[in-house]
Amino acid sequence: MPVPVAPRRWPLLGHTPAMLLQRARFTDALHEHGDVVRLDLGPLRAHFVTSPSLTYEVLVSQGSKFRKGAMFDKFQPYLGTGLLLSNGGYHLRQRRMMQPAFHRERIEAYASTMARAASSLAARWQPGEIRVVEDDMQELAVTIVGEALFSSEIGKRAVEEVRRSIFTVIQQGMIRALTPSFVEKLPLRGNKEFDAAIARMKAVVLQVIESWRADGTDHGDVLSTLLLAQEDGVGMTDRQTYDEVLTLLTAGIETTAIALAWALYELGDNPEIEKRLHAELDTVLGDRPVTFADIPSLTYTTQIVQETLRMYPIWFVMRRTLEEVRLGDVTLPAGAEVIVSPHALHHDPRYFPEPRRFAPERWTPEFLSTLPRGAYVPFGGGARQCLGNTFAQTEIVITLATVAARWRLVPTRAARVKFTSAPYPQGLLMKAVPRD
Ligand code: HEM
Repeated sequence: MPVPVAPRRWPLLGHTPAMLLQRARFTDALHEHGDVVRLDLGPLRAHFVTSPSLTYEVLVSQGSKFRKGAMFDKFQPYLGTGLLLSNGGYHLRQRRMMQPAFHRERIEAYASTMARAASSLAARWQPGEIRVVEDDMQELAVTIVGEALFSSEIGKRAVEEVRRSIFTVIQQGMIRALTPSFVEKLPLRGNKEFDAAIARMKAVVLQVIESWRADGTDHGDVLSTLLLAQEDGVGMTDRQTYDEVLTLLTAGIETTAIALAWALYELGDNPEIEKRLHAELDTVLGDRPVTFADIPSLTYTTQIVQETLRMYPIWFVMRRTLEEVRLGDVTLPAGAEVIVSPHALHHDPRYFPEPRRFAPERWTPEFLSTLPRGAYVPFGGGARQCLGNTFAQTEIVITLATVAARWRLVPTRAARVKFTSAPYPQGLLMKAVPRD
């Protein structure tokens, strides 16, 4: 069957103007045109999947027929062979070696770092002070991922360098992904800053690896797991380890910081929800700090996290078919580009009534049991599902519980959004009001 073409197609430019001007407003409505809709990004022909069941096929049940798609190619020069970009057997091998760093007992250990870092941030705020919440959350997310990666003395220097450089890498990296390649070679300030940030990060990470190899002990951090891991008696080279470290920093900081900032904004904007959260925290924790063991009892807090990840997820990810693939009544040839959009799926009113309303109470066990597979995919799915998914959810629950135990954050103006690869908050100015 011919694939329906999305509306608002321009000659030559295709759907790029609609994508750039309307962003998710454009793609959230594509389900009205079919389960698979053709989208032309300039000369690149892509297939936008709008149905949960076909999303599930792309990510999970037919996942092995795909590799990463066009958007990921742009990150290759600096993320190299890291997990986000690699494919096939190589990806599987690396993933198996990295997985132990994200096992339950490891996350439990990172959870105390998370609680300590969140508590030290909350202790610095002054009553009545206006905070730029997304900046605070970025700072916190760098500390948490940085300390989980590098716990040794020399690792502390690396965390400082990450703090200084990683946002230049992420933001300029994103700009690169959206612009033609020749722009990267121009002597622009952004390019120079990007190159310098990458050079600094590389130097410091390689230094930590070198010092680790000299002593060889397991510090219980992510880096130790990476360096101790072996497949068929072979471990990672320094270059491979560096690529994986930069991948974890790129994938794990900004994503979590955005979710945290939005969760705090929504709490401030919805006093009834905030009140219910406070009641749960008072009952479960009383006056003591939150721990990993408390998470199963923090059911409403967890619902807030689920709803935040529904409302504010990644815009889309891309895949390329390795062979002919049948998706519903559409047959795609090998080499076809496919787009899957957590944002579009999470705002589809067929599965999430009143999708623009922040409603944690929707996440009842009954709702979850009727939600179709593939309708809620904040972390993707299948073999390429987010490696840091439990890490991130733990970090968000622990931070919300720690901050909300002491403070109410009251928005001083409506949120502004800058939509790039995800809805980024812009200047979430919120007043810190002590809880009585
Ligand atoms: C709320 C926070 C986060 C969100 C929403 C998120 C989302 C995602 C998504 C959607 C993917 C799949 C991409 C695709 O299918 O093409 C992914 C992959 C990945 N994420 Fe996350 N992520 C988050 C936090 C983290 C954290 C904290 C880490 C690590 C510390 C991390 C590490 C990774 C890695 C390594 C991959 C690639 C996995 C693979 O292909 O095997 N992420 N993430």
